[in-house]
Amino acid sequence: MKENAGFRDDFLWGGAVAAHQLEGAWREGGKGVSIADVMTAGSNESKRQITDGVQPGVYYPNHEGIDFYHRYPEDLKLMAEMGFKCFRTSIAWTRIFPNGDETSPNEEGLKFYDQLFDECLKYQIEPVITLSHFEMPYNLVTKYGGWRSRKLIDFFLNYAQTVFERYQNKVKYWMTFNEINNQANYYDPLPLLVDSGLIVQPDENIERTMYQAAHYELVASAKAVKLAHQINDDFKIGSMVAVTPIYPQTSKPADVIKAEKISQARYWFEDVQANGEYPWWLKNYQAKQNWNLDITKEDLEVLAENTVDYLGFSYYKSRCVSANPGEAPQYRYQGIKSFAPNQHLPKTEWGWEIDPEGLRIAMNWLADRYHKPQFIVENGLGAVDQVEPDGKIHDPYRIDYLKAHIEQMKLAVVEDGIDLLGYTPWGCIDLISAGTGEMSKRYGFIYVDRDDVGKGSLKRLRKDSFFWYQQVIKSNGEKLD
Ligand code: BG6
Repeated sequence: MKENAGFRDDFLWGGAVAAHQLEGAWREGGKGVSIADVMTAGSNESKRQITDGVQPGVYYPNHEGIDFYHRYPEDLKLMAEMGFKCFRTSIAWTRIFPNGDETSPNEEGLKFYDQLFDECLKYQIEPVITLSHFEMPYNLVTKYGGWRSRKLIDFFLNYAQTVFERYQNKVKYWMTFNEINNQANYYDPLPLLVDSGLIVQPDENIERTMYQAAHYELVASAKAVKLAHQINDDFKIGSMVAVTPIYPQTSKPADVIKAEKISQARYWFEDVQANGEYPWWLKNYQAKQNWNLDITKEDLEVLAENTVDYLGFSYYKSRCVSANPGEAPQYRYQGIKSFAPNQHLPKTEWGWEIDPEGLRIAMNWLADRYHKPQFIVENGLGAVDQVEPDGKIHDPYRIDYLKAHIEQMKLAVVEDGIDLLGYTPWGCIDLISAGTGEMSKRYGFIYVDRDDVGKGSLKRLRKDSFFWYQQVIKSNGEKLD
């Protein structure tokens, strides 16, 4: 067996974004309204609101994004200058099927992505495409209740087939649903909406609804894997989960079991997508609830036969849990409310734990459990940047964060022997934050002049990290200082 000396020669260095967070042009080219179009701006202190349709006088930051729709040639030129080998973005479902339930696609939307992918390929930048990244058609939410409805499987497959066929000679790497496992936190309306188009109804057992909706999405994902391979057997189609290692706060066995239970609640999605079956604990749990979920024998066969080719995942932070006396044995996962502080780790300005070693832990854990190549499709530091009078942006904090994570990623590859396809840091160009709707939570190597209320020239500037990352790519991850 070959020993890994470093990253593979064809390692996919690049950056990641999502259509709704940067394209803007929300009403152009025949685009329909997506769920991102009805989400207001928020902050760490005040949550983004989901309005009942687009309301007059309300500021919706995704409507203009950073105007990538019109400026992508300039932006891709800058990415090519950094040496990108790949560029991860998503297709806005609403540009192709504005309402989601049409039978024929919108040609203008298809043309836009033809042009975008051609522009990438002009620089030998490989497009890496997510089919559904927090931007499903709003009509599917209001008319069908989002992924509550089995009908969405066919709508999604119609969309997937259209883009697989259209771009079969331009795109090789695909992912189905972005961070499908965020909805494990069904106590929070935001992940339910962005993952599955679910708006909680009064008196609804939302836990049951989440499991049902996620099941339909997983079946749609497996059927998309099958379709992708039928259309082009060179396609590589991956899952995409948010990986957050869950540590017990102490060595108390009660903390350890709680950490394990919470991990299970977050990662069963990957068990289904990569291993092709529901984990035992979940079959047992669902049976005990008497929920009578619509999960057919045919669905289970589809899941078993169509597992993903690779594991796409985001990694930003780890979390820590501590058991409270008398807690239920199932330790229901409640997102942020479940977590305890980790005194060993510093935090970002937005309160996210900074834990580079957690990335190596996550990669080992994924490798042990799923035996598939990995692709880190998001990682990065959201921070406030300052533009100096000379137009420079000094962001050593971002360089430190990324360097420390690349070092751990390298240990996972070289020392632990993990097969890693690539690395695409999140928000390689500043964009709208998905969690808060802010512009000031910046991740980019490229600065964009725009603020939290939509003001600014939209001018692009190279940060110090731009030149640092250029060296990292050029040296295939050898030169990190
Ligand atoms: C992931 C998403 O959750 O994290 C991205 O896939 C998102 O869409 C990124 O932007 C960073 O989160 P935030 O809330 O800082 O934008």
